[in-house]
Amino acid sequence: MNIDKVFIIGAGLMGSGIAQACAQSGIEVILNDINQKAVDNGLKNIEWSVSKFVEKGKLPETKKTVLGRIKTATDMSQAGEAALIIEAAFENLKVKQEIFRKLNECCDHDVLLASNTSTIPITELAAVTERSDKVLGLHFFNPVPMMQAVEVIKGVSTSEETMLAGMDFVRKLGKEPIRVESDVPGFLLNRINLISYVEAIRLFEHGIGSVEDIDKGFRLAFGRKMGPFETGDMVGLDVSYGGLSAIYEESKDIRYYPPQLLRRKVKAGQLGRKTGRGWYKYTKS
Ligand code: NAI
Repeated sequence: MNIDKVFIIGAGLMGSGIAQACAQSGIEVILNDINQKAVDNGLKNIEWSVSKFVEKGKLPETKKTVLGRIKTATDMSQAGEAALIIEAAFENLKVKQEIFRKLNECCDHDVLLASNTSTIPITELAAVTERSDKVLGLHFFNPVPMMQAVEVIKGVSTSEETMLAGMDFVRKLGKEPIRVESDVPGFLLNRINLISYVEAIRLFEHGIGSVEDIDKGFRLAFGRKMGPFETGDMVGLDVSYGGLSAIYEESKDIRYYPPQLLRRKVKAGQLGRKTGRGWYKYTKS
C-alpha cells in the first residue's frame, strides 16, 4: 500500500510534528483542526522547525518545497482524499470516538484510520467504525521530527495487513516501527518508562536519593540523555499524571497509582518547564 497523502486531525504539538515529519519525507499532508488559531500556530511551529533542519544541512530540499506539501483545513471535507488518517486531537475518549464516527462516514472503506492516543484503547475507537480491521495506533514521541521510534499498535480487530501497512508507513518517514501486539494501557514504552518514573518519585519522597543525584545517576550509569525528573519536567507533570491515572483506571495495577508528591505538585501548578517549576526551577532566558 503506497501512502502518499495523509490527513492529520489536530494541529497541536503532536499533529503539527507529525505533519512536518510527513512533509519532510515527500508525503502530501492536509493538517486539520477545529480551531483556525491552532492551525496557524501549528504551521508557524513547523516553519520554524523546518528552518532549523535546513540551517543544519539536514534536509536535501528547500523549506519552500517541504512547506508546499502541507495544506490546511478546519473541516473534514477533504479527509476522503487521503490513504491514511492520523488523529491527534485531545486525549478524550468522547472527542476521539466522535472523530472516528465521522471518518467512517466520509472515507472510503480502504482508508486506514490511526490514532496517536497515549492511553485510550485502539479497540474502543475502532468499535465506533465499520472497519475495525483498518484501525490502528500510530504512537509518535515528542518532539516528532527528532524522535525515531513510533509504536504501531494492534487493536483486537486490527488486521495483519493494516499492521504491515502502518509499519511500512513509519519506515517511509525514516523512522523505526516498534510493534505492539495488544492495546494494553500505556502500550509498550510508556508503560515501562512510567514505572521507573514512579519509583524515582517514591525513592525521592522517602528521602533515599535527591532529584539531582537520581538524574545524574541515570545519565552516567545508564547512558540516558536525561534522568526521570528532567524528562518529567520536559513532558509536563500533568501529562505524566494523566497517563498514570489512565493506566491505573484501566488496569487497577497499583504500580501506576500516581505518587502523592506528583499529585500535590500538579495541584500546585508546578507542571515542569512550561510553568517555570516542576522538579527543578527554571528562569526565563
Ligand atoms: P494539543 O492540545 O497540543 O493539540 C490537540 C489539538 O487537537 C488542538 O489544537 C485542538 O484544537 C485539536 N482538536 C480537538 N478536538 C478536535 C476535533 N474534534 N477536530 C480537530 N481538531 C481537534 O495535544 P497534543 O499534545 O498534540 O496531543 C494530541 C494527542 O497526542 C493526544 O491524544 C495525546 O495523548 C497524544 N500524545 C501526546 C504526546 C505529547 O508528548 N504531548 C506524546 C504522544 C502522544
